[in-house]
Amino acid sequence: MCPVEGNQKSNHTNGNGVTTNGNCSGGGNNDVFISVDRGDPKMYYTFWKNVDDKCTVTIKASELMSYFADLDQGGVFYQLPEFSAAVHQVHRVVGNAVTEGRYIIGGTGSSQLFTVALRALASTVNNTNTDNNLKKKRQIPVVCAEPFYSCYQEALEEEKSEIYKWQGDAKTFDEEGPYVEVVTTPNNPDGSIREPVVKKEGGLVICDLAYYWPQYTPITTPADYDVMLFTLSKATGHAGSRVGWAIVKDKEIAMRMIKLMSLITIGTCHEGQLRATKILEFVADSYAPLENGKLNSNGNAHVVEQPSEKFFEFSHRVLADRWKRLRAVVKRCGVFNLPEYSPEYCNFMNKNIHPNPAYAWMELKNGEDAEKLMNELKIQTRGGPRFGVSSKYTRVSMMECDDTFNQLLDRLSTLES
Ligand SMILES: Cc1ncc(COP(=O)(O)O)c(C=O)c1O
Repeated sequence: MCPVEGNQKSNHTNGNGVTTNGNCSGGGNNDVFISVDRGDPKMYYTFWKNVDDKCTVTIKASELMSYFADLDQGGVFYQLPEFSAAVHQVHRVVGNAVTEGRYIIGGTGSSQLFTVALRALASTVNNTNTDNNLKKKRQIPVVCAEPFYSCYQEALEEEKSEIYKWQGDAKTFDEEGPYVEVVTTPNNPDGSIREPVVKKEGGLVICDLAYYWPQYTPITTPADYDVMLFTLSKATGHAGSRVGWAIVKDKEIAMRMIKLMSLITIGTCHEGQLRATKILEFVADSYAPLENGKLNSNGNAHVVEQPSEKFFEFSHRVLADRWKRLRAVVKRCGVFNLPEYSPEYCNFMNKNIHPNPAYAWMELKNGEDAEKLMNELKIQTRGGPRFGVSSKYTRVSMMECDDTFNQLLDRLSTLES
C-alpha cells in the first residue's frame, strides 16, 4: 500500500474505524478534523454488518500451513484454486473483465501487483530488446495521464528502481522506445473513463480497474487489456484483507510476475485469499445462484440466504444518494465546480445509470488553493498537486462512513460564494 494513502491516524473503534451503528467515532465535534483524504471504503460496513454470520470464515489451527496451495490451472503455487474460481465467477457475473484463458495472479492488494507488473513488463522489455542503442539496460519510462492516482508517482519515486522511472503525464510524453502507460479507468481522482493516450510502438499498458464495478460506473463492456488490476478493497470494501488480483494475457509476463511474487513475499497470505473467496462468492452467488451440483468453497451445494437488497444495489444506492446530496450543497454554496457525468447503459444493471465515482474532484472556482480552504473548514482532503495538477483542485472521498459524510456536507454548507 502506498504509505501516504494510509498515513493518517484513523478513528479506530472495532478495527473498522466504524462503530456498530455504521458511524465513525468522534465525527460530531466541529473542532475536530474529519478526514475524507483517504480512499478508505467504510461506507460498505452497513451492508456487511447485516450479513455478518453468512460470510464468516473459520480456519482451524492445522489448516493452511504450507507455503503452497494445490496447484491451480494458472500454476500460481501460492494461490488457492477456490480463490481463482471466485475471481472468474465474479467477473463472469458482473461482465467487467475477460478472464477466460487469462492468468489470475493474486497479490497483497493491487498495490503490490502494480509494482510486480511494472517489474515484469520492464524486465521483459529489457531482455528482448534487439535495438543496439537500447540494448544497454535502461530505465523504462512510466507515464499516466494527469490527474493520476497519487500513489503511482509516490511509490515509484520512493522505490528508485534501476529498470523503470516515473515520467509523469502521458499526454506530454514524446520519447521513442519502450514505455509503460498506466491507465486507470474509471480514473482516480476525477472519475473519467479512460483509454491509453500515448499509443506508440513499444508501449505496454497496465490497466488499473480498481473502480470498474457497477456501484461506481456503468459496465459497458468486459475490459480486455494485457495486464489488468483489480482489488477487493474497492470492489467490496474489504481493504484490510489486502487482497488484489491481476488478470494477465501473456504467459511470459504472467510467469515473470509469479516468480517475482515468489522472490518478494513467497506468495500471499492464504487466510486473506480464503476471506476474499467467501466474500466474492457471496456477491456473485446472489446474482447467479450455483448451478446444480456445483459446490461452493465450504463444500455446500446450496446458496447462502441473501439479503433483500443485494450488494451492488446497496452500494450504488448509497453512492447515488451521496452524490445527489453533495451536488445540492455544492450548487447552493457556489464556491466549487464538480465534474458532470453522462448516464450510460449498464449491461449489469440492465438500465441506464449515472456514474457515481468513489471520489469527488472539486475545483475551487476562484482558482485558489482548494485543499487549504477545506483545511479551514477542518476537512482533510488531498490537493491537486499530489495528482500532478493545480492546487485549485482537491479530492474528497465519497466512501467514508455516514457520520463523516454528513459532517462533510454540514461543513461545506457554511461556505458562501
Ligand atoms: C486506482 C487505485 N489503484 C490501486 C489502489 C490500491 O488498492 P489496494 O488496496 O488493493 O492496494 C487504489 C487505492 O486507493 C486506487 O485508488
